[in-house]
Amino acid sequence: MTFQLPPYPYDRLSLLGKLAEAMPGGIVDCSIGTPCDPPLPAVVAALSGSGSERGYPASAGSLELREAAAGWLERRFELPTVAATAVAACVGTKELVASVPQVLRLRQPERDTVLFPAVSYPTYAMGAALAGCRAVPVASRPGELGGLDLDSIADSDAARALVLWSNSPSNPTGDLGDLPGDAAWGRSHDVPVFSDECYAEFTWDGPPRSILQSGTSGVVAVHSLSKRSNLAGVRVGFFAGDPEMVEFLRAVRQHAGLMVPGPAQAAGVVALADDAHVEVQRARYHERLVFLAGVLSKHGCPVELPAGGFYLWVPVPADRWVDAWAMAEELARRGGLLVSPGDLYGEGGAGFVRVAVVQPMERLALVADRLAADR
Ligand SMILES: Cc1ncc(COP(=O)(O)O)c(C=O)c1O
Repeated sequence: MTFQLPPYPYDRLSLLGKLAEAMPGGIVDCSIGTPCDPPLPAVVAALSGSGSERGYPASAGSLELREAAAGWLERRFELPTVAATAVAACVGTKELVASVPQVLRLRQPERDTVLFPAVSYPTYAMGAALAGCRAVPVASRPGELGGLDLDSIADSDAARALVLWSNSPSNPTGDLGDLPGDAAWGRSHDVPVFSDECYAEFTWDGPPRSILQSGTSGVVAVHSLSKRSNLAGVRVGFFAGDPEMVEFLRAVRQHAGLMVPGPAQAAGVVALADDAHVEVQRARYHERLVFLAGVLSKHGCPVELPAGGFYLWVPVPADRWVDAWAMAEELARRGGLLVSPGDLYGEGGAGFVRVAVVQPMERLALVADRLAADR
C-alpha cells in the first residue's frame, strides 16, 4: 500500500480562520504556538555578524553552541557537569521529533513501535508513520490531563518499542507529567526515553524540570530556542543525554546532511547565554494566560491555568456546544479568535480547545471586548 499523508493538522482550520478574518479589526490568531514577540536585539545582530556564511557548519553544532547549550542545561536544571560532547544541534526540534524513529530503527531494526502521549503534539505519531512504524498512543495518567500512564503499556508493545516520547510541560495540556518515573520505566524496559522539553522555561508550577535530573543513561532531552527565545524562524534546537545515543544520532545526522546554518548557530550561542529576556517573556505569557482565562470564564468557559506552557486547554462546556469544532466556530465568529479544536492532538482531546497566548495584550483585549459586546 502506498503511503497516505493525512491532512496537515492546521490546514483544517482555514475555514474558521476566514470567519475570524471577517471581523472588523481582523483575526486574533491563537491557534498555532508561533511566537509573536521580538527576539533579543543582540541575537538578531549575531545573525549578520558571525562571518560564518561561507563554510559548511558543523552538523553537531559548533563547539561554542554545544558549550552554550551544556552551560544552560547546568544552570537551568541545576545539573552536574554536562559534557559538550553529549550535546548536539538540530534544525529546530520538529525535524528531530519526526526523524528519531527512522534513526533509532537503524540501531534496533527488530523493533517497530513508537510510544507517545495519547493527547500530544502530532509530530510524535507522524515520526512513526514516516519510518513505517506503529504509532502506539499511551493514555494520560489516571485522573490527570496528561503525563503517561506507564502501567497501561502492554509488555508486547514495550518489547517492540524504539522510543517512548514524553513531553513536559505538555503541548497541549500543560501537564508536567512524571519525568523521573518515565526515565525509570525506560531503563527497566530497555526502551530509550526521549523527553521533549521545549516549553521548560515556561514552567509555572515549581522550577523547570528535565529528564536529565534523573541521570543520562537511556534518556535524551530535546530543547528548542523557538519558544524560549522567540526564534522559531531561525531553527535552532539541540538534544543532550545518553552519550552513546547522542553520538549515534549525531553521526547519522551528519551523514544525512542535517546542519543548523552557521549564522543561526552564532545567534543560538548569544540567546543561550542570556536569561533576562526569558524572564521578560515568562511575564508576558503569564499575564496573557491569566487575562484570557478570565475572559473565557466570563464567557461561560471556565478553564484552569496550566502547570506549564503557554496554552490554555479549555474544556468544551457540554451544555453549549456539541463539540470542540462548534465552540471554535463560535469563538471565531463572535470574538474573531482562532483556536485549535482539541482533536488535532488526538481523539482524547476532542472535548477541549487549545488557545495559544501568542498575541499581544491589546489583541486579547479586543477579543474580550467583542465577546462582552455580544452577550
Ligand atoms: C511539543 C513540541 N515539540 C516540538 C515543537 C517544535 O518546535 P521547533 O521545531 O520550533 O523547535 C513544538 C512546536 O510547536 C512543540 O509544541
